[in-house]
Amino acid sequence: MKIRLLPAAAALPSADLVVCFVNEGMAVAPPRALAEAVRLANATGDVKAEFRKVALFHTRDKRWARLLLIGLGKTGELSVERVRRAAALAQAQAEASGVRAFVLLADTLPQSIAADALGRAVAEGLVLGAYKYAAPSQKPRRPRQAQIASVAFTGKTRADFARGFEIGRVGAEAACFARDLDNGPANVVTPTRLAHEAKKLAGKGVRVRVLEKRDLQRLEMGAFLGVAQGSAQPPKLIVLDFAPPGAKHTVCVVGKGLTFDTGGISIKPAAKMEDMRYDMCGGGAVLGLFHAIRNGALLRARRKVRVIGVVPATENMPGGKAQRPGDVVTAYDGTTIEVLNTDAEGRLVLADSIAWAKKTYSPHAIVDLATLTGAVVVALGHEVTAIMGNDDDLVRALIAAGKASDELLWQLPLLEVHKNLNKSKFADIANLPNAAGGAGSIAAGAFLGHFAQGTAWAHLDIAGTAWGGEAKDYYTGGATGTGVRTLLQWLLA
Ligand code: BES
Ligand code: MN
Ligand code: ZN
Repeated sequence: MKIRLLPAAAALPSADLVVCFVNEGMAVAPPRALAEAVRLANATGDVKAEFRKVALFHTRDKRWARLLLIGLGKTGELSVERVRRAAALAQAQAEASGVRAFVLLADTLPQSIAADALGRAVAEGLVLGAYKYAAPSQKPRRPRQAQIASVAFTGKTRADFARGFEIGRVGAEAACFARDLDNGPANVVTPTRLAHEAKKLAGKGVRVRVLEKRDLQRLEMGAFLGVAQGSAQPPKLIVLDFAPPGAKHTVCVVGKGLTFDTGGISIKPAAKMEDMRYDMCGGGAVLGLFHAIRNGALLRARRKVRVIGVVPATENMPGGKAQRPGDVVTAYDGTTIEVLNTDAEGRLVLADSIAWAKKTYSPHAIVDLATLTGAVVVALGHEVTAIMGNDDDLVRALIAAGKASDELLWQLPLLEVHKNLNKSKFADIANLPNAAGGAGSIAAGAFLGHFAQGTAWAHLDIAGTAWGGEAKDYYTGGATGTGVRTLLQWLLA
């Protein structure tokens, strides 16, 4: 999908399809050439402003053969999310009609929403909506001709719209990049492959290096290595670094990169185990963020911030070399960990990554994203990510960024008493909470918090939101790419 914003003074280009939006109680204001079609359509009573109602008309004007009206619903119910969905619906309708080039009249969108948010939502809807995972197939892939959407916006706030549109495009393309990595089967998207994809992001101010197994051994990352030792695939610690000149602040963004999680010796049940390909979606979000950075997303940021991405990538496999329940490993920071359950591996690889990021970069903030616990799906389902941390300002800022991106975050408490959940008889800390204590997601958060001590830190448990949510025009199944747009918004705020 190619999208572009038409120059301010440009005449409307001819196109096979022109899209207008209608909301209840507001007159449709199409360009003069299309007014006749709208008048005729209105007369049939087919034009309904109900949210997601579409009406397609054919015009006599050869320059604009089709006119598509998309309903946004009641004025009081308007939202950025509805605009994003409506734009995605326009893309889907164009595709269903076999239309390659279409024009979207963004001036017909409600001006009650700020222009930069409108621009961003339109771009996101178009790009995310057009996303399709190209599964490996015997069928020769028909080379689809890329769709081209030209967006017209002529209002006074055009500069704001343009800025939002550009950020929206770069962020959505980054989320699609993450979705592709996330959706790939685990025999294809291995730790080595993730590292390879990360290296391709180097350039334009982004530096990438990959720590190999021998480096992890030298650094004594016993927790990460313990998880990786059961796999034939070598582990990789992927490190990305964007350091714009003049940056005074550093933030580290850490993403769980389990390219497959069988559970290890504490093996998972067979049902739906294939979904554990998605156990690298936290890492996918971090790589997605750097895809956006690579494409200039932060060049006009108000605050110059150095951004470090850290993705511990490995598989969690059973086998003769795998770690056993009851093993005690020593983490990078010297903490001894009793591995009571080898399936609680995410917190182990993150423990070393967080401690290493803290020591190496002395960052102002650490944010981690991880498909960490099944318990979070029970607590919050598939539409809301759990957030917890040790710094209220950081948590608040991330919640605000999530809200602005329609990737909702909900805070869970992390209290002093929760530290007791991870008590161990045989080491400093255990990776499995006492089942009677409940609060599985909080226990995992408290475990990570031990390694983040002394640094502002927030943890996003995306086990529910990384895949499996409700279809919503710009998401139709598989991985959602969640986190990419939120992180970008947070860094731009
Ligand atoms: N990757 C899983 C978490 C997960 C489970 C994500 C289901 C999405 C759907 C994680 O590594 C895991 O296995 N967690 C265990 C922890 C338990 C052993 C304390 C879990 O949630 O069951
Ligand atoms: Mn697991
Ligand atoms: Zn896992």
